[in-house]
Amino acid sequence: MHPFERPSRELTGRLRAGGALVVLTGAGISAESDLDTFRGAGGIWEGRSALEVATPEAFDADPLAVWRFYARRRKDAAAAKPNAGHLSLAEIEAARPDVLVVTQNVDGLHQRAGTKRWIELHGSLWRLRCVRCRKEWSDTRADLGTLPPKCACGGLVRPGVVWFGESLPTAAFAAAEEAARRASVFLVVGTSALVRPAADLAEIAQASGSWLVEVNPEETNLSAAADERLVGPAGRILPRLAEALRASAGDVA
Ligand code: OAD
Repeated sequence: MHPFERPSRELTGRLRAGGALVVLTGAGISAESDLDTFRGAGGIWEGRSALEVATPEAFDADPLAVWRFYARRRKDAAAAKPNAGHLSLAEIEAARPDVLVVTQNVDGLHQRAGTKRWIELHGSLWRLRCVRCRKEWSDTRADLGTLPPKCACGGLVRPGVVWFGESLPTAAFAAAEEAARRASVFLVVGTSALVRPAADLAEIAQASGSWLVEVNPEETNLSAAADERLVGPAGRILPRLAEALRASAGDVA
């Protein structure tokens, strides 16, 4: 299997035949929107332990420090715009029935790009939850005012994201797993595929007969197993996939 930049006939053929497309995305798809990825040079976890800001224990010990970290990420995400990668996925979805984006990202950029069918495996920066009364709600303001925010009940409010040591939302993961089993093409975009169980979805899909395609400028844990690698930034590769599908739709008409 050789790495290419353009989608293969197998890939476009399966989609042209109406097969279901499931796309698992990670921080790399938002890199071209100027949001940092987690690992590697300049990544969010460089010089900072995830355990200091992304665990329930860290929040119990110092909610203000944890909120400073998330307030910054909310601000950055609010200032970011969906890029050609996000927009191409929304375009592909608009043109065909069976597309689902399963994202590990919490930035909301897929939704802002127009994606309608999505699952957020790691929650969202824009969801808030009271640790006392458990009420959960959306708040898309870039600035939340005094930190840490408080609920009307007086309890502390936490970000609605999944932290290390916490389980993924059960229904969301079950729906993603079910979709992975049905996928004709399973596209993995911009993730190091190191964090489970999100990364397991690729294996589940492939074991159920999906064509496993990786879009990433670098090699990852998944590269060796992928049926096809499209090597390059998502903002360059995904428009090519959208274009190839547009062209094949033209052939059919
Ligand atoms: P990582 O930072 O681990 O990986 C980002 C991936 O994106 C790497 O494989 C890069 O090569 C790739 N990449 C960089 N630029 C890209 C581009 N322009 N186009 C496509 N790919 C590009 O981020 P994730 O895999 O998303 O979890 O991390 C998974 C989880 O670990 C996150 O959801 C977060 C983190 O700790 C929690 O916070 C629970």
